[in-house]
Amino acid sequence: LVNNAGFNECGLFTDTDMEQEMKMIDLHIRFVTQLTKRILPMMKKNNYGRVVNVGSTGSFIPSPSDAVYSATKAYIMSFSNALYGEFKRTGIKITSLCPGATETEFAAKANIQDTLLFKYAVMKPDSVVEIAYPKLMKGKRLVIPGIYNKLLIFFSKILPVGVTNSLTITMMK
Ligand SMILES: NC(=O)c1ccc[n+]([C@@H]2O[C@H](COP(=O)([O-])OP(=O)(O)OC[C@H]3O[C@@H](n4cnc5c(N)ncnc54)[C@H](OP(=O)(O)O)[C@@H]3O)[C@@H](O)[C@H]2O)c1
Repeated sequence: LVNNAGFNECGLFTDTDMEQEMKMIDLHIRFVTQLTKRILPMMKKNNYGRVVNVGSTGSFIPSPSDAVYSATKAYIMSFSNALYGEFKRTGIKITSLCPGATETEFAAKANIQDTLLFKYAVMKPDSVVEIAYPKLMKGKRLVIPGIYNKLLIFFSKILPVGVTNSLTITMMK
């Protein structure tokens, strides 16, 4: 199961469309939870399966101008990590894939294609898949594709939120 469907309603929280945000919460949280709930009993019967939940670097970094999106992606990673623990000693593996900016239709749909993030820190989707696929088949808990994204997440863990907030605001300009 690849829980990949997603989109972004980006902007200051008082400016964004609440309907779109509710749809995003449904898609990223409700449906991911429901689909996973339905498929895991089937995987358990065979003691084999792979679930990939597509998070984001935003799973680790609360993002001003993208508050709801990053919060939904934090849910996805927390949910994945917990299930990984539940199935650790079985043939079922749960992977959280956390890419950063990637050249798909995502940025244009969210009108963020001209931001510094999508100009200078973007990866090709083929590279993301080439990195992620062998790792998820091996049952890795977490896949962060690309050195830039790895560094970003490393620093997000040690820097105060005030600093990561400022960095995020700059990258989204
Ligand atoms: N691209 C990035 O920079 C980036 C970075 C981090 C994480 N991600 C995550 O990567 C995943 C894939 O996104 P992408 O980059 O491949 O973007 P994309 O090119 O826009 O593709 C998104 C996919 O999600 C589907 N989708 C969107 N809303 C849906 C809904 N309400 N119900 C069912 N399907 C829906 C789309 O289907 P339709 O085409 O039919 O609408 C499309 O197949 C998402 O979870 C996204 O949050 C992307």
